[in-house]
Amino acid sequence: KKVIFSGIQPSGDLTLGNYLGAIKNWVKLQDEYDCYFCVVDLHAITVKQEPKDLRRRTLELLSIYIASGIVPEKNTMFIQSHVPQHSEAAWLLNCFTYMGELSRMTQFKDKSAKSGSSVAAGLLNYPVLMAADILLYGTDLVPVGKDQKQHLELTRDIAERFNGIYSPTFTIPEPYIPEAGAKIMDLQEPSKKMSKSADNPNGFILIMDPPDVIKKKINRAVTDSLGIVKYTDDQPGVKNLINILSVIKGITPMEIENYYQGKGYAEFKNDVAEAIIGELSPIQEKVKELITNKEYLQSIYKSGAEKARYVANKTLRKMKKKIGFIPEE
Ligand code: TYM
Repeated sequence: KKVIFSGIQPSGDLTLGNYLGAIKNWVKLQDEYDCYFCVVDLHAITVKQEPKDLRRRTLELLSIYIASGIVPEKNTMFIQSHVPQHSEAAWLLNCFTYMGELSRMTQFKDKSAKSGSSVAAGLLNYPVLMAADILLYGTDLVPVGKDQKQHLELTRDIAERFNGIYSPTFTIPEPYIPEAGAKIMDLQEPSKKMSKSADNPNGFILIMDPPDVIKKKINRAVTDSLGIVKYTDDQPGVKNLINILSVIKGITPMEIENYYQGKGYAEFKNDVAEAIIGELSPIQEKVKELITNKEYLQSIYKSGAEKARYVANKTLRKMKKKIGFIPEE
């Protein structure tokens, strides 16, 4: 079986973008692949985190994975900091990565611009840790949203560089970016991606938002004065809502355009809200139940980490041997 690795940061409450761009695809892919789904807490601390919030979000994120339909028995789900091989491999790979490559990453440029003068070095090194995550498991495929594409390309460059200096060590991973849902946009500023760190909460829908909040946010979503449900770049707000509906319902934007011909935005928005609520409500119920069952969650992340450590360690040992470190035994 081919290997999949993907992860999400517990750095804020998850949005509909995270769900439609990543998790929903993981659920589809889990039967065909050997999957590792990670809660990347080491990545989360590249920006300031309140310890108690980090703890809460880490377990909530794991619960969301399970509640969305990732089956614990079939997949390896774990918390990144439980597998120290990630940090160690990241250091090694850091020495095969150029400063220029890292400072050119658009996500780094965006995030560091926001942080002003106190940018953590970890924010620059972030994509190297991501490369370690992926390369330790011999990953073939990485299902992510469009915003991670550049990090994936860097991962491939680092892997090829290491393989070239020594001998084939890493599998070169391919990105898996869905056609629809890869970039869900902000509801208030549809030129920006939907993000948990947006200033205006009306711009994003959280996976855990209650139905009335979802309705309100979709109602307020920015559209235009044309009044036609059309999938075009000239109507970015409407286009985004069509995208959301299309991914949730599994129908094409064209079918949606046809259906809403001659109908106004009110009905359209109402249906979009209902579709989101229908998708998220059952997940929310399950998350609320799972989050109270700490022992069950622990059994999953413990056995996940055990398996992950075993596989990661094999790769790490190979790396160290090739580099020229003396093996302990
Ligand atoms: P993160 O936590 O920012 O986002 C998690 C996943 O959600 C996707 N995503 C979106 N998709 C569509 N529309 C949006 N508006 C949207 N916003 C976010 C992201 O593309 C991502 O797939 N660096 C990663 C986490 C990571 C990782 C990894 C991923 C660490 N190690 C190894 C894959 C493999 C990140 O910050 O994702």
